[in-house]
Amino acid sequence: MHFETRAIHAGQEPDPLTGSVVPPIYQTSTYKQDGVGGLRGGYEYSRSANPTRTALEDCLAAIEGGARGLAFASGLAAEDTLARTVCQPGDHVVVPGDAYGGTYRLFAQVLSPWGLEFTAAAGHDVEAFRAAVVPGRTKVVWVETPTNPLLGIVDIGAVAALTHEAGAILVVDNTFASPYLQQPLSLGADAVVHSTTKYLGGHSDVIGGGLVLADADLGERVAYLQNAAGSVPGPFDSWLVLRGIKTLGVRMDRHCENAARVVELLLAHPKVLDVRYPGLPGHAGHEIAAKQMKAFGGMVSFRVEGGQAAAVEVCNRARLFTLGESLGGVESLIEHPGLMTHASVAGSPLEVPEDLVRLSVGIETVDDLLEDLTQALG
Ligand SMILES: Cc1ncc(COP(=O)(O)O)c(C=O)c1O
Repeated sequence: MHFETRAIHAGQEPDPLTGSVVPPIYQTSTYKQDGVGGLRGGYEYSRSANPTRTALEDCLAAIEGGARGLAFASGLAAEDTLARTVCQPGDHVVVPGDAYGGTYRLFAQVLSPWGLEFTAAAGHDVEAFRAAVVPGRTKVVWVETPTNPLLGIVDIGAVAALTHEAGAILVVDNTFASPYLQQPLSLGADAVVHSTTKYLGGHSDVIGGGLVLADADLGERVAYLQNAAGSVPGPFDSWLVLRGIKTLGVRMDRHCENAARVVELLLAHPKVLDVRYPGLPGHAGHEIAAKQMKAFGGMVSFRVEGGQAAAVEVCNRARLFTLGESLGGVESLIEHPGLMTHASVAGSPLEVPEDLVRLSVGIETVDDLLEDLTQALG
């Protein structure tokens, strides 16, 4: 079955009781048992499993092409559960050189005191990842591509090969691309992480996370910790993400088209210094992106002449581009990463340029977006 058909149908057979075409929101914490241990539909308590969440988890597995999908209360909850499943204190992890700030904070401030050691790869090329691997100790190589907020591109297939040579597993954060544009498991990754808050949910109305594992046994181990530590999403949040996934393909096509037009405008603007978009032939990762992505996505970053004050001014002047954190919703957002999403990495090697502005280009009529950006740039 093709991607968009899977997105609409996988895990979502009509409800056996009523024929409801849309999976119901099973807003229940517990399930009646027919005698002790006699479970009717395999469900006993909604931290362990809930039918609405199961529908989402099966759909996630189907759209990423994995053996097991798992849904979480947030992207970071998914990351934390995966890291604690595959690593023990004393193990070593390689993280991206410009990981999402919250991912870096998780490793630096939470998992490091727990006993994990990590190295941030000094770049996006294969050699940077190879240099960061500690043979015999590295358990996980963690990749984001495109990266947040600098839109760097990592060659998933090449990093998968060196990761496996070192006896480690490759985790890809596929939040920026979404499975519609990029299929990391088919390129050799072992696990895919999502902040489903973003393109999968797609409407800026839910916080959620997802994991898809290539290997069913690893999936079972992560599911054990998901239940034991309990960072699960509620049924309504699961339902919202599942509904969002149904339109992922058409939304992504429009995000990509609109982003390409926004990039054109930015390139021609005298106050814009540096446009970061993997679709640009001059982007360092363009060829790799063209090879491993179906199109180049809806995220665009750029630097503004005049330093931090000028970049902040552009963010404050935007009207249709809403000033706010997050990304991947139908509405366009603008933000200053240095003072907003990535404030937690200030002073670390991951600090972002102070004159950087990040756009999440939505699916509004593009002419309105261009008009707003033109006035915001002044
Ligand atoms: C690339 C990426 N990964 C993970 C996360 C964390 O997801 P959440 O905010 O749902 O915990 C984010 C959040 O912005 C992100 O951008």
